[in-house]
Amino acid sequence: MMKSQILSLLRQRGDFISGQELCEYFGVSRTAVWKAVGQLKKEGFCIEAVQNRGYRLVQEKEVFCRHELESRMDTRWAGHPVSFYDVLDSTNLRAKLDAEKGAPHGALVVADMQTQGRGRRGRGWNSPAGTNLYFTLILKPDFAPEKASMLTLVMAMAVSQGIMDVCQVRVGIKWPNDIVVDGKKVCGMLTELSVQQEYIQHVVIGVGINVGLQNFPSEIAETAVCLEQVCGRQVPRASLAVRIMQTFETYYETFLETQDFSRLKEPYDRLLVNCGKQVRVLDPKGEYTGISKGIDTLGELLVELPDGSVRAVYAGEVSVRGIYGYV
Ligand code: BTN
Repeated sequence: MMKSQILSLLRQRGDFISGQELCEYFGVSRTAVWKAVGQLKKEGFCIEAVQNRGYRLVQEKEVFCRHELESRMDTRWAGHPVSFYDVLDSTNLRAKLDAEKGAPHGALVVADMQTQGRGRRGRGWNSPAGTNLYFTLILKPDFAPEKASMLTLVMAMAVSQGIMDVCQVRVGIKWPNDIVVDGKKVCGMLTELSVQQEYIQHVVIGVGINVGLQNFPSEIAETAVCLEQVCGRQVPRASLAVRIMQTFETYYETFLETQDFSRLKEPYDRLLVNCGKQVRVLDPKGEYTGISKGIDTLGELLVELPDGSVRAVYAGEVSVRGIYGYV
């Protein structure tokens, strides 16, 4: 914690802070401060130490690590605490274990690489090191389990807004929760729910964002894209994760006021890529085509059929495709 705080103090000051001031602030010895700074330098932060002046954060190139995330996480609860791993099997698996062991509402698990990244419908999620964002947020809401699927839509809004704020590119949502740019997928989400006796034990929302340039496996090369490819410059992963937690916190609180999408429906629909377009609903009970009309207050997609009737499609059961391809 002290290391993250030193980092955020140095960042705020933008100038030298004396060793003395830091010692007093934390109530520790000069050696303790010097050691903490030494460890930060080892992690890759560029901190200058000058006699009689103190310490200064030199360049603001982000290092993707726990201290960077912690020092930037200025939310009230979303993203606290952060646990960071260089390698995990899957952030969702870790988050579920942590949630069972008592991790609080808002705890965030982040990894630089996953060895068993998991996607929906039993698929995997391409999770190489050093380039993408993989995180899982733990939530412990006290509402009925049926409402949990709406939380993924809240996260989809937060991720879209976060990407637009940090990268200045326009993204959209392919209902319910894929984030797309120019018709290609840049982010996927996997929500897992644990229920006991009609109560939510925890919900974990896993988010995978393709950030840096990479060779996608051939199966997804046609439909996947990464942020750096679309915005043409480096995207700071820690800032992106923090921005997403900030927007999630705000949207989640709006959601909680009504426990549905009545207040979020309009901003969600504005992000929806296939709104007003023809979509094919891949319902296991029979596929059909109709015009997407946006979501209702439960987060279901409204699809108008050729006979003029409207069906509400529930996110859990079916998937929706554009008639000309993935979106
Ligand atoms: C999809 O199939 O679209 C969902 C992909 C979800 C991937 C993320 S990466 C972080 C988290 N951990 C996982 O194992 N999966 C999710």
